[in-house]
Amino acid sequence: MRTIIAANWKMYKTRAEAKNYIGELQQLIGTNLKKDREVLVFSPFTALSDISAIVSGTSWLNLGAQNVYPAEEGAFTGEISPRMLQDCGVQWVLAGHSERRHVFGESEKLVGEKVHCCLEKDFSVMLCIGETLEEREAGKLETVLRSQLETLRQEKSLPMERLALAYEPVWAIGTGKVASNDDIVEAHALVRRLLADISSVDADTMPILYGGSVKPENATQILTLDNVNGVLVGGASLQADSFTNIALA
Ligand code: PGA
Repeated sequence: MRTIIAANWKMYKTRAEAKNYIGELQQLIGTNLKKDREVLVFSPFTALSDISAIVSGTSWLNLGAQNVYPAEEGAFTGEISPRMLQDCGVQWVLAGHSERRHVFGESEKLVGEKVHCCLEKDFSVMLCIGETLEEREAGKLETVLRSQLETLRQEKSLPMERLALAYEPVWAIGTGKVASNDDIVEAHALVRRLLADISSVDADTMPILYGGSVKPENATQILTLDNVNGVLVGGASLQADSFTNIALA
């Protein structure tokens, strides 16, 4: 299975900063990336069209948006449609990130609509799932992950081979507190088991990334763990050199 190394820039970087970063990344990674690896950058909307031309000329690099609204067009002030993202050269869309769920109150239903709508419209989708510390301490890990994965159930057939998951324990995001190897292995095995219950999904081939305080110092080890098929990186992806060290780990 391929390994996906993804950067989530969140609300950082102007257009000029984004362009400089991508140029630096191309130089630093060059031809050094392992053959089975794909690098993704989830950029803010405002920099997408500026960097899409540079990204599309690099075979190992793909461009993603951090959000979308699941409708063709309409009176949805402040939202961005799938068609607008296509127009900016976007291939990937992030859905269900914990900041969207917990800071902006996105419901399970809305996250599910985003996933289905983007798969239907030929995007690749990265669905983020993960429990809060409170939920983990209350022994609800399985219940929470099961309910977040339920959004993948569907009536019509969708190209699930374009879906990837990112397991990101909420308590490890931006806190510097990385989950232990045992926690990661346990959660990823659980996610694969839960996926097998959903008939439309091929559980064995679905990439499952880990996210939450991934850094150059811990990336090599995390990437060798069972059922870890990549990493989703926030803070440590903001500098091209630090993200390069993770991509080449
Ligand atoms: P972090 O963020 O690497 O800063 O913990 C990860 C994420 O939000 O996807």
